[in-house]
Amino acid sequence: MIKTKTIKKWVGVLTSGGDCPGLNGAIRAIVKRGAELDIEIVGIKQGWKGIIENKTEILNEKKVSGILSKGGTILGSSRTNPSKIKHGFKEIKNNFKKLKLSALIVIGGDDAVGMAQKLSKLVPIVVIPKTIDNDVTGTDYCIGFQTAVQTATEAIDRISTTAESHSRVIVVEVMGRHFGWVATYAGLAGSADFILIPEVVVDIEKICALLKAKRKKGKKFSIIVVSEGAKLKNKLVSKTGSKDAFGHLELGGIGEIIANFIKEKTALDVKFVNLGHILRGGSPCAFDRILGSCFGVKAIEMVAKKEFSKMVILKGTKIKTQSLSKIRGQRKVNQEVYETAEKLF
Ligand code: F6P
Repeated sequence: MIKTKTIKKWVGVLTSGGDCPGLNGAIRAIVKRGAELDIEIVGIKQGWKGIIENKTEILNEKKVSGILSKGGTILGSSRTNPSKIKHGFKEIKNNFKKLKLSALIVIGGDDAVGMAQKLSKLVPIVVIPKTIDNDVTGTDYCIGFQTAVQTATEAIDRISTTAESHSRVIVVEVMGRHFGWVATYAGLAGSADFILIPEVVVDIEKICALLKAKRKKGKKFSIIVVSEGAKLKNKLVSKTGSKDAFGHLELGGIGEIIANFIKEKTALDVKFVNLGHILRGGSPCAFDRILGSCFGVKAIEMVAKKEFSKMVILKGTKIKTQSLSKIRGQRKVNQEVYETAEKLF
C-alpha cells in the first residue's frame, strides 16, 4: 500500500517578559501533546526578540525531557517590545511566513497579552498567562505565582526566627509590580504583622503605634511584608528610575524607606530584606507544574482546532479559554484574602 506523506503543521512557541517557575512545564506539554497531534514545535528564543531576529530551535521530546521540574525557561526570555523596534511587526509577519508557522503560542504576562491583542490581526495566536505577579485579567492563577508565594513564605519563616531571636522588626520587600498578590498571600502564609500593598492605602504612623502596642502586649518581634509597588505619599519608589521597553519603571526600595521610618519613629531594632529575583527562580511547585502542563496541553489543542485570538485560563478548577479582545487592564489582589490577613494582623 502506498503511504501518503502527512504534511506536518509547524507551530512557534515563545516565552516573553520576566521568567518564572513553571514555564518549562508548559513548553514540555506543548511539545509532547503536539507530537501526538502531528504538530512540530519551533522554539523561539528570548521572547519577541527571537521571532524578530529569526532565532529559533526545533523542539522535540528529547529536548523537553526532564525539564518539568526545572525553573526558568529553556527558550530564554526578554522584555523586547516589537512596537519599539523599526519594522518589528513586519519582521514578525515575515519570519512567521519564512518559518512556515501556522500559529504562535505566546507564554507571557500582561505585556504579552497587549502585544498578542495587536499581533493577532497579523498571525494566529494563543496566549498562556504566566507571571509571579498574578495580575493578568481573566485567569484565577498565572503560571509562577504559587511557587513565588511558596518561596516568599519559606523566606519569611526563616526571617521570622532570626527576628524573634533579636527582638527585631524585619521589613520584607517582595516583587509584584502594581498589585499585591505575592505580598498578600505570602504575608498571610508567613503570619506577617502587617502587609503593605499598592491596592490599600495605609497610615505608616499608625503602623508604628501598633508595632509598639504589640511589644507592650508581649510580641517579641514583627514582620512587615511590603509589595514593591506600594506607594509612599502616593509615589512609587524606584532606586534607579530606569524603565524597560514597555515603559515600566524599575521598582524597588520602598521596604528600606519604610524600615528607616519605623526605626526613627519607634526606636525599635529594624532590619530590611528585599527578596527580589529569588521569587522568580528555582524549581516550580507542584501546582505550577500542573498548571503549566494543563495550559500547555490546552493551548496546543486550541491550535489544532484553530481556536485563535484566545488565552488559556483557569477558572476555579477548570481550564477554559478567554477571548483576547475581552481582556482589559490588570487584576487587583483578591480583596477577601487581604481582608482575612488584615483581621489577623
Ligand atoms: O515578572 C514580573 C516582575 O517580577 C515584577 O514583579 C518586577 O517588578 C519585574 O518583573 C522585574 O523585572 P526585571 O527582572 O526585568 O527587572
